[in-house]
Amino acid sequence: MKFFVDTADLAEIKDLASTGLLDGVTTNPSLVAQSGAKSFIALIEEICKVVKGPVSAEVAATDYATMLKEGQRLAKIAKNVAVKVPLTPDGLKVCKALSDGGTMVNVTLCFSASQAILAAKAGASFISPFIGRLDDISTDGMQLVRDIVQIYKNYPAFKTEVLVASIRHPLHLVDAARIGAHVATIPPKVIRQLYSHPLTDKGLAAFVADWQKTGQSILDAA
Ligand code: E4P
Repeated sequence: MKFFVDTADLAEIKDLASTGLLDGVTTNPSLVAQSGAKSFIALIEEICKVVKGPVSAEVAATDYATMLKEGQRLAKIAKNVAVKVPLTPDGLKVCKALSDGGTMVNVTLCFSASQAILAAKAGASFISPFIGRLDDISTDGMQLVRDIVQIYKNYPAFKTEVLVASIRHPLHLVDAARIGAHVATIPPKVIRQLYSHPLTDKGLAAFVADWQKTGQSILDAA
């Protein structure tokens, strides 16, 4: 399973990239606004230097012609940019045009299996089902992931990867992995939560204390 980090905070991205576990990055207009970055283009350029895998950069317009121009501009930033387009008729037209030209496209704001089928037919590299936002309205977000993974498996010609988005806690990630989703985009806070277990902390404290009782040092050993 690939891990993308869901943030536009460059310091967080650099820190998490140093773990060696990051396969990509997703941003969206809200995350860019939160980052306080003065230049979106410069920010994406910097992120693409830090993480070599796909870096999603979202178009801002909603009409076909402007979205296409924005997507072409974003794609020029670096080879690993995945242009993010909304799941609308115009967004999918842009997806088809860009992916036919060899640009990676992440289709965002997916809330149904029918939308995911359209995105695959439009040649998307990634489809982003937003599971947390579905859970928020008492709809089972993970069921949507299950449905899309199953449907895509039925059609090997579909090359679109299921990128689980709007992840809110570690169980979302574990369930997505059980289902076999290709990618999860995870907020930095949730990535850090993945490491945590009280028994790990307790066990390590006991090992450290017991080792001190031996009075030995591995590095000083002959
Ligand atoms: C990522 O591509 C999405 O934009 C993001 O996961 C949405 O998350 P949210 O629902 O927490 O805003």
